[in-house]
Amino acid sequence: MVNELKRNDKKLSFPLIQGGMGVGVSLSGLAGAVMKEGCMGVISAAHPGYRKETFRLDSIKANCDAIIEEVKKAKEIACGKGLLGINIMAASKDYIAYVKAAVKAKVDAIISGAGLPLDLPSYVDDESILLAPIVSSGKAARLICKIWDKRHHVTPDFIVIEGSEAGGHLGFKRDDLLDDTCESLEKIYADVKTELKPYQDKYQKDIPVFVAGGIYDGEDIAKYIKMGADGVQMGTRFIATNECDAALAFKQMVVDSTMENIEIVQSPTGFPGRGIMNSFMKRTKERGNVTIKKCLDCLTPCNPSDTPYCISEALIQAVQGNVENGLVFVGSNAHRVQEIVSVKHLIDELKLETHKWLGDKI
Ligand SMILES: Cc1cc2nc3c(=O)[nH]c(=O)nc-3n(C[C@H](O)[C@H](O)[C@H](O)COP(=O)(O)O)c2cc1C
Repeated sequence: MVNELKRNDKKLSFPLIQGGMGVGVSLSGLAGAVMKEGCMGVISAAHPGYRKETFRLDSIKANCDAIIEEVKKAKEIACGKGLLGINIMAASKDYIAYVKAAVKAKVDAIISGAGLPLDLPSYVDDESILLAPIVSSGKAARLICKIWDKRHHVTPDFIVIEGSEAGGHLGFKRDDLLDDTCESLEKIYADVKTELKPYQDKYQKDIPVFVAGGIYDGEDIAKYIKMGADGVQMGTRFIATNECDAALAFKQMVVDSTMENIEIVQSPTGFPGRGIMNSFMKRTKERGNVTIKKCLDCLTPCNPSDTPYCISEALIQAVQGNVENGLVFVGSNAHRVQEIVSVKHLIDELKLETHKWLGDKI
């Protein structure tokens, strides 16, 4: 039996979180549709305001305004169903502003990875909002729990473990990803559970654990629930949906991808990532650094004078459909995606398959 994820009187009817996908891949359209099916929809706080006229002049304001607007729209689509999360990268320079905008917008959960969200609890003045770090090791879970306990006297409300098969930025060493020597999701799960135990005991609270990275179908979901996970987070499969907020060309690129053209890329965030090989990725490989015309000054670890390219610009190009001149992030299983379907179709299929593999154990 899984630990249910709930906020106040609202809970998930199926233990599935749609992973936050920036830039602009998961906004209100996708998140609202996922919520409507009783799951957790997640809006990405990585430049949600990229379409606003004021974005290049004042990206923080454009993004904060967009957070408020996208949350409102997602809730309207969801008609009171599911839960709404926002994904805010800890590496973001304007992290505090985005957390505050999310609190003002009244999200159900704040999910934070790409760095360690060590002071997240201090920026949130609403105790009912669920706070969840994303980790890729037991060590990261231990550090976050220790600091949250000491400094903020709280423990996470749930945890997302992102394994090495995930899309987007990855919390693993590039060489380990290339050599396929990263720890398995199963091993990281066991380590994280061990690290969480003292804090679950101290705070007398269950900390549901969701696993992510390369999860493709209901058989996979059932496998991780049998292992003990309370649910899963999935990203790539949600790209190939009608409601996904990216341009059709981006979705089609996922459908057309092959095992051979999905590669590891170095991102200016300092983390490696995984994307589909295209002209842009070939150029960065062959020519090295791509000149930055105007820096958005958005990531703490990024230095515009020696960064290989502007990650925000590359992701903005891709989400708008300029897929040969941008970065198309995907998980390792993207090549298995065959068609673009509705979110309802995808979630109904996942539920059916999971129940088939689990019987009534969910
Ligand atoms: C296009 C894309 C963009 C992503 N952007 C983010 C992001 O901004 N922040 C984040 O924490 N994770 C991001 N992720 C990771 C997802 O939230 C999710 O954890 C991951 O995709 C799960 O692996 P899967 O794609 O194999 O299902 C992104 C993933 C993709 C595919």
